[in-house]
Amino acid sequence: MQWTGLNEIREKYLSFFESKGHMRLKSFSLVPDGDNSLLLINSGMAPMKKYFTGEVTPPKKRVTTCQKCIRTPDIESVGITARHGTYFEMLGNFSFGDYFKREATAWAWEFCTKVMGLPEDRVWITIYQDDDEAYEIWTKEVGISPDRMVRLGKKDNFWEHGTGPCGPCSELHFDRGEQYGCGAPDCGPGCECDRYMEFWNLVFTQFDSDGKGNYTPLEHPNIDTGMGLERLACVMQGVDNLFLVDTVQNIMKHISRIAGVTYGEEPKRDVSLRVITDHIRSTTFMIGDGVMPSNEGRGYVLRRLLRRAARHGKLLGINKPFLSEVAQTVIAENRDAYPELEEKRDMIVKLIHVEEESFARTIDQGLQLLGSLMKEMNGKVFSGEDAFRLNDTYGFPLDLTKEIVAEQGMTVDEEDFRRLMKEQKERARAARKNAGADAWAGGSDVLDDVAATEFVGYDSISSSATVLAVLKDGERVDAAEAGDEITLVLDRTPFYAESGGQVGDTGFVTAGDSQLLVKDTTKNHSGIYLHQGKVTAGRISEGDIVTAQVAEERRRAIMRNHTAAHLLQAALRQVLGSHVEQAGQLVSDAHVRFDFTHFSAMTPEELHKTEELVNQVILEGVSVECREMSLEEARKIGAMALFGEKYGDVVRVVSAGEFSRELCGGTHIDNTAKLGLFKIVSESSVAAGVRRIEGVTGAGVLAMLNRQMDLVQEAAAGLKLNNPADLAQRAKQVSAELKEKDREIESLNGKLASVRINSLLDEAKPVGGVRLMTAVLPGTSADALRAMCDQIKSRSANVVAVLAGVTDGKATIAATAGAEAVKLGAHAGKLVGQVAKIAGGNGGGKPDLAMAGAKEPGKLEEALTAAEGILSEMLK
Ligand code: ALA
Repeated sequence: MQWTGLNEIREKYLSFFESKGHMRLKSFSLVPDGDNSLLLINSGMAPMKKYFTGEVTPPKKRVTTCQKCIRTPDIESVGITARHGTYFEMLGNFSFGDYFKREATAWAWEFCTKVMGLPEDRVWITIYQDDDEAYEIWTKEVGISPDRMVRLGKKDNFWEHGTGPCGPCSELHFDRGEQYGCGAPDCGPGCECDRYMEFWNLVFTQFDSDGKGNYTPLEHPNIDTGMGLERLACVMQGVDNLFLVDTVQNIMKHISRIAGVTYGEEPKRDVSLRVITDHIRSTTFMIGDGVMPSNEGRGYVLRRLLRRAARHGKLLGINKPFLSEVAQTVIAENRDAYPELEEKRDMIVKLIHVEEESFARTIDQGLQLLGSLMKEMNGKVFSGEDAFRLNDTYGFPLDLTKEIVAEQGMTVDEEDFRRLMKEQKERARAARKNAGADAWAGGSDVLDDVAATEFVGYDSISSSATVLAVLKDGERVDAAEAGDEITLVLDRTPFYAESGGQVGDTGFVTAGDSQLLVKDTTKNHSGIYLHQGKVTAGRISEGDIVTAQVAEERRRAIMRNHTAAHLLQAALRQVLGSHVEQAGQLVSDAHVRFDFTHFSAMTPEELHKTEELVNQVILEGVSVECREMSLEEARKIGAMALFGEKYGDVVRVVSAGEFSRELCGGTHIDNTAKLGLFKIVSESSVAAGVRRIEGVTGAGVLAMLNRQMDLVQEAAAGLKLNNPADLAQRAKQVSAELKEKDREIESLNGKLASVRINSLLDEAKPVGGVRLMTAVLPGTSADALRAMCDQIKSRSANVVAVLAGVTDGKATIAATAGAEAVKLGAHAGKLVGQVAKIAGGNGGGKPDLAMAGAKEPGKLEEALTAAEGILSEMLK
């Protein structure tokens, strides 16, 4: 057995099965496609369930893959032990109704012993208790000694995960040696101890499970095998656990370097190193497959893993964001087998950084709060309210709080936590409803007998139709009268129902003299279009033949803005990079609001370039085509799809020449020239890592120009200009004039001060050989006081002055002493300090000049009167 690197083992496995007639497929995304029974792909077979059931034809009856997998049932154990991990790779060979047990077992054995060189006597085989066929094959055909064959029950040797194909299985275990064993007389494969490590599972897939205990035999039995790549690597590299496998160890070493610690020196630190190593692997791959952090579903798992890793970073004493840096090593170690990591590098690194930084802002306070709350609660149940606050204000996912309090033997009142979460959600929903965003969506059974609506609005904006249902206050009625607010359902409609960020259409539905003014169109989950509005004349009844007419100008404006959104996305990807993905949009008649992933504010040059690119395509007059095709074909021609969005087999692709190709169900203008012009109105931040551009097209640009021109006219009129073209020059001139006036005022103030000083000097009182002048000068600023002091000390060497001024309700006291007065012992700093104290302030400074603030302007007179006594003390 020769030391073999993880990447090399993967390659050996895949090419071995290629040599056995298998087609090598690349790993499927971690995000399941059309399988709600799974949050994340957790085995090699999971993305291929439909091949097993026969619902979809596989590209070949024999395939082999190395599949990225994530299993999250025991996240809190990850790190605590060296056995657990959330991320792993599963190698597999699959037969869809082709070969079965005989070939699967023989090839497994050949690969282990001949290709990898595992010593035969250290490999043990388990089979399902009743599977005599497998027993025969292993012992008679493959030649395994019956001493190394073990029969186990359903718990160990029957494979199923979620719903779908499943069956009895046979596992290969590696005997790591007596020193790892528990010594029990019945110790063997299946024992909980560390001696026998299962590394390959051959599943003889014979049933389809509905998840409720019903197993339907499959028409053709299949083969599904799963080999833990990291596990085989442990064997081949002679290491104890996955964290010591070459590529994984390189990731851990990077973390160790940042933290300045060494693995294997201190058990607690080892836990943290393992947590971070595992979690940064899973999160890097998840983001690479389009998962975004959020508070639900996969996004929650991602967030929880990142935050758990961040907390363990703190435990290691790392006080800066570091995970995004480690992600670079994950990418470097895996990019050959998973090129998507390289493609999405920018996105992965930036997203982790943004998420980490946002948590960094609250983690310290959160941990401090958690610590003090736990002390207060003193071993009792941690309150749901506090767990909620930690979640809501400090970004601590419930599971993280649970885990931290569990370290102190406490539990969280989860019921209360969930109640508060529910209340918060309800409040948010109510708020949306009040804002009118939650228009009645008609999901209820009142429309159970109504067929989905045929949408004819891609090609026309007017159509005849039959009224299938009239709803008033959510109830079916036979007819509606003028004045009624209703929802109307037709068999076909040209009205676009709000979806994909495009607003619903408005318009009219008429039958003779009867008319419904349609204010909005939505659709329910069954594809029934709901025209909401008010009957303005006559009566509209179920069964009526009507004409449905979309408000044309508004719809055209919407189409222009929707096409603009596509052009904008394509331009942004050219200008900013391929990490730009749509994160939301709102397309209305007034404007297009496009949200996208990007991590810093756009520069004026970037904005300018983006706008220019879009306008170039508009001015070229490129025709916009909408075509239906298979998802496969759409991918082939490089159509952009929404991250994480589910599409059917047939999709609609909207293209503007070569410039933009997107999967989209919206309505579009047929030539870019009809957009007129595109103008970006604003660029701003919506959330961490998400920017928003708002823009206008066509008549919207004209309206904006008109508004700007009105503004210019108004400003010109305000400045009494006949010609608005002189505005810029006049503005500069006015500003220069104001500056000039300021200077004049300043110099006049100076002159005024010197007049005042003259009269004050006349009034100065002799005190112990110097002359003291004091004055409260309302309206005099600190600057002006300082300037006066400068003049006084330069004009009269034996004068001491204490002056107070009040501007904007703020009192300042300034003191100065001429050179001779200083020689005699006067000290402006000390003097001003003592004087200011009386008026509730403080301050100080140099012997010849000092300033102080005072909080009680009413006491300035009193304070200044005290100056005489203070000064005479000083001069003694
Ligand atoms: N699907 C089987 C497993 O994951 C091979 O173990």
